[in-house]
Amino acid sequence: MTNILTCVFLVFLSCGLAFGARPKLFSLDSQHEKSTFTRTDDADDGICKKRVAIYGYTCEEHTVTTPDGYILSVQRIPTGISGAAASRPPVLLQHGLIMDGITWLLNAPDESLAFILADNGFDVWITNTRGTRYSLGHTSLSPDDSAYWDWSWDELVANEFPATLQYVHDQTGQNLHYVGHSLGTLIPLAFFAQGKQPDMLISAALLSPIAYLGQVSSPLAKAAADSFLAEDLYWLGVNEFDPKGKAVQKLLNTICKVPGVDCLDLMTSFTGKNCCLNSSNSEVFLANEPQSTSTKNMVHLAQMIRGDTIAMYDYEDSDDNMKHYGQTTPPVYNMTNIPNSIPLFLSYGGEDAVSDANDVQNLLGILKDHVRDKILVQYQYNYAHADFVMGVNANQIVYDPLMAFLNSQ
Ligand SMILES: *[C@@H]1O[C@H](CO)[C@@H](O)[C@H](O)[C@H]1NC(C)=O
Ligand SMILES: *[C@@H]1O[C@H](CO)[C@@H](O)[C@H](O)[C@H]1NC(C)=O
Repeated sequence: MTNILTCVFLVFLSCGLAFGARPKLFSLDSQHEKSTFTRTDDADDGICKKRVAIYGYTCEEHTVTTPDGYILSVQRIPTGISGAAASRPPVLLQHGLIMDGITWLLNAPDESLAFILADNGFDVWITNTRGTRYSLGHTSLSPDDSAYWDWSWDELVANEFPATLQYVHDQTGQNLHYVGHSLGTLIPLAFFAQGKQPDMLISAALLSPIAYLGQVSSPLAKAAADSFLAEDLYWLGVNEFDPKGKAVQKLLNTICKVPGVDCLDLMTSFTGKNCCLNSSNSEVFLANEPQSTSTKNMVHLAQMIRGDTIAMYDYEDSDDNMKHYGQTTPPVYNMTNIPNSIPLFLSYGGEDAVSDANDVQNLLGILKDHVRDKILVQYQYNYAHADFVMGVNANQIVYDPLMAFLNSQ
C-alpha cells in the first residue's frame, strides 16, 4: 500500500544498479552510518567546484533562506563556456526526490541541461532542496533535530518554491523560467493549483511530470510494499529518510529477499526501462546521489498513491488535521484551479513507471481548457523517468524543443 516509498527512492537508488554498482548500495554491513557518511562531506568544495568549474564554466555559490528557516544552497552559471554575458532570461532548475542539483550536471556539458542552457545564453540557477547534502543549514535547527525533518512537499510548495523564485528575481532584476523534474514538477503544479500565478514567472517546463499518482504500479513495488510501511519508520522516529542509512538498507535487504523480486533489475521494474543512459557515468552518479529527504515527505507521497488524491499531508487523525488545517481532512490542491494562461511545457515518457502516462493524461485532461499557445506537450514513447535528465540524447529529444518553447514565451 505504501509502495511509493520504496518505489520513488528505488527509482534513483537503482540507477546505481543499472550501472552495476549493486553491492555498494545494498550491503547491510556497510559502515556508512549516516552521521559519518553524509555529514562529514559538508566541508567539501560544493557543486560549483565539483561539477561545473571542472569543465571551465564560471559558477557562483549562493544561499537562499526560506521563510521557515532552511538555508538552501543555490548555484549560478551566469555565462556559457564562451564567457559572453547571458542574453536570455534566468532559468531556475529544480531537481526531483532523493536527488540534488547535480541532477542537471551528471553528463558531459553537451548532454547536461544546465550547461546547454548556459551555452545558449540563459542565466542558469540550480537549487538544492532542504535535507540534501549542501542544503542542511537552518537558522535555528540542526539536521540532528527531529524538528528539522518535520516537513513534506507542502512546505516546498509554500516556502521553497516562492523563496527561490524571489531570490533569482531579486539577484537578476529579471523575470525567469522554471524547469523541474519529477517532484520538482509537483511543486509548481500544487502552487498554481491554489490559483496563484507569480508575476515574475515567465514559464514552467515540467519534465516527467508528477501530479496524480494513482496509476503508479510495478510488480516489484507491490512486493516491496508488503515488507515496508513508511508510517512504521516514521513513527519509530526515523525522521530523516536517508537512502544510504541503515534503516533503509535493512528495508532493501528485506525486499530483495521477497520471492520473485529481482534486485538486479530494480531499475527497469521501478523507473521503467530507461532507453538512453550512459553507463560510463555511474561514478558521478554514485559519488553524489542519492540524497536524503524527510520520512514525512515519503509518507505524504504514499498517501497520494493510496488515495489517488492531491492533498496536503494527512495526519490520519481528525483532531490533528483540525489542529493543522482547521478541518478534519487535509485541504485539496485542486488542479482545475491552475490559471489557464500560465505557459507550460510538459514532457513525458511512454516507459516511465513513476510519471505514468495514464496519470499524466489525467492531468492533461484537467488542463484541456488551457490557452492553446500557452501549453506544449511532448510525448517520448521510449523514455523512462531518468532519461529526461540523464539520457545521452535528451539534448536533441527534450532540451531543443524545451529551449524553443522558452524562447517563444
Ligand atoms: C558516456 O560518458 C563518457 C564519460 O563521460 C563519455 O566519454 C562518452 O562520450 C559518453 N558516451 C555517450 C554516448 O554520450
Ligand atoms: C475542484 O474544483 C472543481 C471546480 O470548482 C470541482 O468541481 C471539483 O469537485 C474540485 N475537486 C476536488 C477534488 O475538490
